[in-house]
Amino acid sequence: MALLEIENVSKSFGGLQATSELSFSVNEGEIVSVIGPNGAGKTTLFNLITGVYRPDDGHIRFDGRSLVGLKPNRVVDRGVARTFQNLRLFNNLSVLDNVLIPQHHRLHSNLFSAVFRTPGYRRREAAMHELALEKLAFFGPRLMSYRLHQPVYVLSYANRRRTEMARAMATGARMLLLDEPSAGMNPKETDEVTQIIRRMRDEGGYTILLVEHKMNLVGDISDRVVVLDYGQKIAEGNYQDVVRDPTVIEAYLGRRDDSDDEDQDGGEPAIDGSASNGPDSTGGA
Ligand SMILES: Nc1ncnc2c1ncn2[C@@H]1O[C@H](COP(=O)(O)OP(=O)(O)OP(=O)(O)O)[C@@H](O)[C@H]1O
Ligand SMILES: [Mg+2]
Repeated sequence: MALLEIENVSKSFGGLQATSELSFSVNEGEIVSVIGPNGAGKTTLFNLITGVYRPDDGHIRFDGRSLVGLKPNRVVDRGVARTFQNLRLFNNLSVLDNVLIPQHHRLHSNLFSAVFRTPGYRRREAAMHELALEKLAFFGPRLMSYRLHQPVYVLSYANRRRTEMARAMATGARMLLLDEPSAGMNPKETDEVTQIIRRMRDEGGYTILLVEHKMNLVGDISDRVVVLDYGQKIAEGNYQDVVRDPTVIEAYLGRRDDSDDEDQDGGEPAIDGSASNGPDSTGGA
């Protein structure tokens, strides 16, 4: 059964059609990747699903219920959490506090129990703490022991990305939207994050929607791939098929034309993440 349903969703910014009559769905337990050249509308899609933007048109349903019009924290409460292309961590706070933050609005929902620290409040606080540690432990020793209490600004870029993933997991979400989780990571770290995403699904039970430029990662773990270009879906299917699809190749090569690249030999190399989308690719929220 489809857990996430995107149906005829459109969104424009002024004259720019960032998302155009987009439809696809993600089944429970699937890993689906969204790929496409820079500016194709991948991050916009995440912003539409998570309530940062409201679609001009169309439906977005999670577990059979509409998400349209909900504020981002309500979308999280429904079971959809995300990470950001450009990290959104509180750099002066510790790793542990960053993971605890999204849970605080639930803990403080009752002012009386918070002020008087009732037994129920302390129980919930302890459970929250335990959940945060469990999700951080998913990343092995990298975020544990002394690192738990280090401020985020001392962490490596890879560890900051791991902290964001742990934070999304600790919300209690069923579905995770990961926006370029391997950006800024070296090949070894990228391999590791590939395994982590697979374990998130296999052991954690999460359904995953992934935006990625690194094609080896996408090819390794995706059950299905959706390709966007100028906000439209131009292909959908298994990885091997979509990267051979002439429309997809043209979408990527078209961008290479723009950059006056003479060495165009066609085929997959153009879709290799190394072509135009370095780890520091910017844009999007
Ligand atoms: N808030 C906004 N206001 C105006 N234009 C926007 C806004 N958000 C996104 N866009 C535009 O929408 C288009 C799609 O952007 P988006 O960030 O979704 O692309 P992307 O596929 O995530 O690209 P990248 O691979 O570079 O991250 C771009 O042309 C972008 O400039
Ligand atoms: Mg983006």
